[in-house]
Amino acid sequence: MCGIVAATAARNIVPVLIEGLTRLEYRGYDSAGLALLNPTLTRLRSVGRVAELAAQADGQVAHHGIAHTRWATHGVPSERNAHPHVSVGLAVVHNGIIENYAELKQELRAAGYAFTSDTDTEVIAHLIQETLKASADLFQAVQRATARLIGAYAIAVLREGDETLVVARHGAPLLLGLGEDGNYAASDASALLQVTRRMIYLEDGDVAELRRDAIRIVGAGGTAVNIPEQRPVHESTLSADDVELGEYTHYMQKEIFEQPQALAATLELIGGAQAISPNLFGVAAPEMLNSVRSVLILACGTSYHSGLVARYWIEQLAGIPCSVEIASEYRYRVSVPNPEQLVVAISQSGETADTLASVKHAKAQGMGRTLAICNVPESAIVRECALRFLTRAGPEIGVASTKAFTTQLAALFLLAVTLAKSAGRLGPEQESIQLKALRHLPVAVQKVLALEPEIKAWAERFADKHHALFLGRGHHYPIALEGALKLKEISYIHAEGYPAGELKHGPLALVDKDMPVISIAPNDTLLEKLKSNLKEVAARGGELYVFADADSAVDAEPGVHILRLPEHYGLLSPVLHVVPLQLLSYHVALVKGTDVDKPRNLAKSVTVE
Ligand code: G6P
Repeated sequence: MCGIVAATAARNIVPVLIEGLTRLEYRGYDSAGLALLNPTLTRLRSVGRVAELAAQADGQVAHHGIAHTRWATHGVPSERNAHPHVSVGLAVVHNGIIENYAELKQELRAAGYAFTSDTDTEVIAHLIQETLKASADLFQAVQRATARLIGAYAIAVLREGDETLVVARHGAPLLLGLGEDGNYAASDASALLQVTRRMIYLEDGDVAELRRDAIRIVGAGGTAVNIPEQRPVHESTLSADDVELGEYTHYMQKEIFEQPQALAATLELIGGAQAISPNLFGVAAPEMLNSVRSVLILACGTSYHSGLVARYWIEQLAGIPCSVEIASEYRYRVSVPNPEQLVVAISQSGETADTLASVKHAKAQGMGRTLAICNVPESAIVRECALRFLTRAGPEIGVASTKAFTTQLAALFLLAVTLAKSAGRLGPEQESIQLKALRHLPVAVQKVLALEPEIKAWAERFADKHHALFLGRGHHYPIALEGALKLKEISYIHAEGYPAGELKHGPLALVDKDMPVISIAPNDTLLEKLKSNLKEVAARGGELYVFADADSAVDAEPGVHILRLPEHYGLLSPVLHVVPLQLLSYHVALVKGTDVDKPRNLAKSVTVE
């Protein structure tokens, strides 16, 4: 969701800005733009892909510039709303939402400023300009102007005749890149790998000044921040290959097939151990997790679904009550705080605004035992929580989350095992069995991936459908939800996930030959019950697509298609059963010809609420 790149360097920075925006495309956007000083201000904007902006920028040379991909919030996607927004020789790009923009706009209009867009961002440009009347110093003007903003922002500002770039963050991601021949800023590290691996993550309230050969940061209280003592310089371990497509056509495809290695990398954290230690979750974990008597999981989207699976594991293995809440609901509802409760925030990006706010909300209510399960080190959610488990899925670029989900499940299973041990409910032998099953996952997932040709054949039959129903029971019910989410996200087919037992309480009314019903049928204690639910569908002329286990006693018949997963996997079965659903969505989207990696209207990293 919105991407920022800023550069001041001895080299021509135009290709750096364009390459950076290309790397940020995955975040989701609908228009793009840049502002250069050469030496007067040049602004280029385009509705559509970064490639169109690149064509416009061809031949431009500059050493100082800011660039942006916009995901529309205030005002439709259009050139006039695309960033940068300018105010007499000054240009601003912004990620986030300014909540008090209407009041500020009124005030600035009264002061004589004319607005040419519907955005909240244009207010920032004019506000800085207005503030410059009192002092000509750009850095100070940005400090003073941002102090008046309510809401979330990451901004980059440049001005004609000024040698510096000024950036600031509050509630939206922004980092600095320290290069050999200049300094840079961006929404995430992938945009800057082309020029440097040395990154500084800004904190909320930071305002930073970038010159070609120096940077300085002033923190929230207005005091200078020491580098590297207070803002360490991190050496990014991302490699260029991590963010390249390689032999694949789409990032989603690459990420589905990377799952065995993503799981293996995540599980390297436990090595070959027969028993795990709570230290896996941080140095304070032994003490914090030891006395945990209940768990609250907070997340959004696919991460929320991994939390729903974890509830089954935590309650079954550890015997501890676990609730799972959508972060955007929890943050605003009146709930009953429990300071003893463990709060687990799950997030691929670590920057999802609602999840971050929900953790802050829990903390503000005295709930200090917080754990982040996250794929991005140094992200806001990781920094907000007392404990952390970093999944090692590698960068996930496709908007529809896949490998982040399965690695989150691995992390959450480890948490369930840890809590079960401290609750005295898991003996050494049982623990070793669970860890062995976990370690076998990469191999088991690899075998499931081999089902692709059959799944592809099924996908052909979905392309002309407008609705689909996904059924599951027990810890596969969240997998039904995730399967439905994947299908709607990338193929735009309306899909719903339902617990199979609820079928007759509503969705059965929708079943006919035009609504495929996809069912997850593992060989577990609920199989017989599920089979009755499937009969109810077949009796109404519904077409069933069943993902069964090798030994699930369920047979193909007219209107009932069956695909068998190679092995039955007990508690960890959801990790296997989600994979064919990912592949099904991917292939349906291919047949429909949608933009798999960048589905319409969606963003990868949802940094606004
Ligand atoms: C967006 C993405 C989803 C993701 C969700 C939560 O909606 O498109 O793929 O599951 O945000 O993101 P997070 O980074 O917090 O896991």
